[in-house]
Amino acid sequence: MAGNSIGERFVVTSFGESHGRCVGVVIDGCPAGLPLSEEDVQPLLDLRRPGQSLVASQRREEDRVEILSGVFNGFTTGAPIAMVVWNKDVDSRSYKRLLETPRPGHADYFARVKYGGFNDWRGGGRFSGRITTGFVMAGAVAIKLLRVTLGTEVLAYVKRIDGVEARELPVDAIRAKRYSNDLRCPDEEAAERMRQVVLEARGSGDSVGSLVECLVLNVPPGLGEPVFSSLDSDLARALLSIPAVKGIEFGAGFGVVNSRGSLNNDPLGLVDGRVVPVTNNAGGIVGGLSTGREIVVRVAFKPPASIALPQRTLNVRTMSEEEVVVTGRHDPVIGPRAVPVVESVVAMVLADHAVRAGVIPPVLRTGKDLVLPDSGEATRA
Ligand SMILES: Cc1cc2nc3c(=O)[nH]c(=O)nc-3n(C[C@H](O)[C@H](O)[C@H](O)COP(=O)(O)O)c2cc1C
Repeated sequence: MAGNSIGERFVVTSFGESHGRCVGVVIDGCPAGLPLSEEDVQPLLDLRRPGQSLVASQRREEDRVEILSGVFNGFTTGAPIAMVVWNKDVDSRSYKRLLETPRPGHADYFARVKYGGFNDWRGGGRFSGRITTGFVMAGAVAIKLLRVTLGTEVLAYVKRIDGVEARELPVDAIRAKRYSNDLRCPDEEAAERMRQVVLEARGSGDSVGSLVECLVLNVPPGLGEPVFSSLDSDLARALLSIPAVKGIEFGAGFGVVNSRGSLNNDPLGLVDGRVVPVTNNAGGIVGGLSTGREIVVRVAFKPPASIALPQRTLNVRTMSEEEVVVTGRHDPVIGPRAVPVVESVVAMVLADHAVRAGVIPPVLRTGKDLVLPDSGEATRA
């Protein structure tokens, strides 16, 4: 398979470029019978949209989703669902210079080498964070599918920005407050300190790194197809496909290096009549299989490469060292804008595994949010 699709049964294909006509996605394999309209997708897209805050890029995009196929009478049909957002606020002027003096830390030069110069370099082309608009469109469908069939819930939030860490909060507070500020951090006090750090870096022409934590609640046990499609390996692969992701940890993560078996093992117990690990250092996955406990995964984002400070690079036409100063509209930090992207990517992988395991059937007939379409004449728009 070429590189722009992911999933075995709930297959998501990404297309579009940052300054091309559109960005979009096709989902092949979404079960039939899921109530779906643009209103199910737009709210999550709005949470990813740029131009809404000083801690994000000033590109102004409406990001209105259009569902082009795969939905009839208000329900998914089982056919491919194609969705697009048209690019509107495109200004490619500042990118032409980068053909000669590529940005350190970005894909400008390496993409040119790989595609022999035929790649669309405007706005970073396929290597722009904008392609994650498509991830979010697919994610919104996956999130709804998981919720109405299994009651599974995906909650991501910004855990840390450049040394400022959010306090441990109960799940209810994370659910209620993660989108209550532009830092996407449910700890308001930490969010305020994070804002200072980001604005200070932005003011000095620099950028900062960030950490997003994602919790998945109500995961059925047994999802995952060991060994090469284990749940953690598929989640890691999908999350590492988000631009700027540099690290992934599950549960105790890299902390296990300094632990002992006696501390790190999660004892089994009986909770509400179910056999589950009573602690969760494993982050909800053991042997590549979901345990029935919440999945806990943390995603490290590097500081965005496009900074206003002068940087050393090579002029690849003259082969002499030069300074490059990146202009244009860029994010000073990625985590806050990536929170809905992380939720989306995690949901896509879980939806795929749930369909593969048969816990989500190919045609949906039950579920609290589901209504069967009228038989005979189409009555729903
Ligand atoms: C939501 C989102 C927004 C991003 N915004 C920017 C940006 O404004 N400037 C930038 O240089 N990189 C940005 N990136 C990251 C680059 O796309 C990425 O660093 C680049 O493609 C190189 O890939 P790599 O960092 O994965 O190696 C963004 C990523 C995401 C997920």
